[in-house]
Amino acid sequence: MKASHSRLALAITLSFAIVSLSYHPKSPGPYTLKERFKWSNVPTRYPVTSMIPLPSAIPHSIPKIQATFPTETSTHRQERLAKLEAVKSNFTHAWSGYKSKAWLKDEVAPLSGQALNPFGGWAATLVDALDTLWIMDMKEDFEEAVAAIDKIDFTTCALDEINVFETTIRYLGGFMAAYDLSGGQYPALLKKAAEMGSMLYKAFDTPNRMPITRWKFKDAVENVPQEAPDGILLAEIGSLTLEFTRLSQLTGDTKYYDAVQRIMSIFEDQQNKTKLPGMWPIQVNAKTEDFTGSQMFTIGGMADSAYEYLPKQYLLLNGGATQYKQMYESTLTTMKNHIFFRPMTIDGKDILFAGQVNSNGQVISATDPQAQHLGCFAGGMVALAAKAFNSEADLEVGKKLMEGCLWAYESMRGGIMPEIIHTLPCPDKLQVKCDWDQAKWVSAMTEKYGTTDVTSAEEQLQNLGLPHGIMTVDDSRYILRPEAIESVFILYRITGNATLQDRAWDMFNTIISKTKTSIAHAALNDCNAINPTKADRMESFWLAETLKYFYLIFSEPDLVSLDDYVLNTEAHPLKRTS
Ligand SMILES: *[C@@H]1O[C@H](CO)[C@@H](O)[C@H](O)[C@H]1NC(C)=O
Ligand SMILES: *[C@@H]1O[C@H](CO)[C@@H](O)[C@H](O)[C@H]1NC(C)=O
Ligand SMILES: *[C@@H]1O[C@H](CO)[C@@H](O)[C@H](O)[C@H]1NC(C)=O
Repeated sequence: MKASHSRLALAITLSFAIVSLSYHPKSPGPYTLKERFKWSNVPTRYPVTSMIPLPSAIPHSIPKIQATFPTETSTHRQERLAKLEAVKSNFTHAWSGYKSKAWLKDEVAPLSGQALNPFGGWAATLVDALDTLWIMDMKEDFEEAVAAIDKIDFTTCALDEINVFETTIRYLGGFMAAYDLSGGQYPALLKKAAEMGSMLYKAFDTPNRMPITRWKFKDAVENVPQEAPDGILLAEIGSLTLEFTRLSQLTGDTKYYDAVQRIMSIFEDQQNKTKLPGMWPIQVNAKTEDFTGSQMFTIGGMADSAYEYLPKQYLLLNGGATQYKQMYESTLTTMKNHIFFRPMTIDGKDILFAGQVNSNGQVISATDPQAQHLGCFAGGMVALAAKAFNSEADLEVGKKLMEGCLWAYESMRGGIMPEIIHTLPCPDKLQVKCDWDQAKWVSAMTEKYGTTDVTSAEEQLQNLGLPHGIMTVDDSRYILRPEAIESVFILYRITGNATLQDRAWDMFNTIISKTKTSIAHAALNDCNAINPTKADRMESFWLAETLKYFYLIFSEPDLVSLDDYVLNTEAHPLKRTS
């Protein structure tokens, strides 16, 4: 997800008050460049005086997550394996494009074949795809890629400022997942993860130990004084826990866990003090540790994974910290009251989306019936947590959220849910019954499009390729995002419901037919157009996440079992130790 990660593309459209530090870079020390970027050589300005230890796992605290799958018929098996092969051959196609045109660069441009470096030039696609290579049993390619990571040089960077969150979820997560999945056979992966970890740890060297999320690492290596910023995105500070915790588990060095646990203590402290108690706004103040200032609440872009990581951190610690369960449960209550809403559909489907609200602390706005593709992870999150915390009722909520995004895929002309849409909401957003209200729809169409009667409203809808109930497409791109298939995958593994495989297969075919190029696969400018045009971009999450989830829906269910792994927000599986 995000300088345009899968869940943060919107970040770049917002501008923040950025604290400007005044400093005078010191002259370079007596080191060569390479030695200078040995982060253990850089002194700590604000050392931690007492380390928070990793909590011990609580045995048997987590119920079984995955369904018990019945033995399949040989027909089903054959069909499934053919689908698995189709997913794999598309992965291989895009991987070959990357290999031949952009090896060791961040991305291959799928139309022009150029090599792009939007993530610092540290081979983002290669690192992000490592674990998918392993999962798809492409051992030769995996070993070739592992051998190549030695050539990634973290002492140079194409950017002046690195995004600590993106670097953590893609690179750190990518190295550790490949290490975990391959059973520790490739120590180079852990070495690279530790190298990355010791660099990122320096971003926490501030007076209050809160990290700088858009980080000038070349100044940091000169030990220029740093301070956490006052305007910071929720997702960027709240989604470092899994990776840093796993790094502590793997290296035995507790400092990484300590670093993120300090952040989560502030989350806990601030949770009921914000303008929408239970949730945190999309922008928070890391310098003063005050999260109560902003008024905008969503679980879509810029916030998303901060919520996703609460139950996942509980799983990774195997129940070792009940704090995460408590924080999740109170946040879910607020989401049910203010964020989740039911759209009005012509056949009265009982489905949910995740919208957004504003609150000034006194007045909480009505839920904006917006649905972002980024928000489609919610079904998977709620369902996974429902299993972890034993709640049948919440599992139903998770299913309805997944069904919301599937409805968008299945009912729009293009067969793909775009970045952002607006729906016609039910009058009472969670009400049990919500019949189609023709008069309400006609007047909403008049307001949006100036249509004058039912006939012209119907015509307008037809021209736009929208089903009754979707009012507008606010951002029509499909940039190869994974969140919808992510939730379908999680629900499939939890329920064992085979119709989800069929629906996933339809999604897959539609996406492939529109995005495939001679080199790889390309984002779409308007995925609901009759003949959508392609954009020259394939973000690394296509190989790291989207194709991985499609593959795992058709694989044996014990491959990357949710009872053994927690997937980070870039779909990198981290091993749950017991
Ligand atoms: C926040 O409020 C909820 C609901 O009243 C409560 O269950 C929870 O324990 C509170 N959290 C904290 C950290 O005080
Ligand atoms: C499986 O999911 C479909 C929707 O995809 C639903 O209609 C059906 O009832 C589910 N089956 C079971 C056994 O839950
Ligand atoms: C990609 O998937 C499609 C099915 O959607 C399949 O027909 C095709 O063979 C697959 N592989 C490639 C390289 O296109």
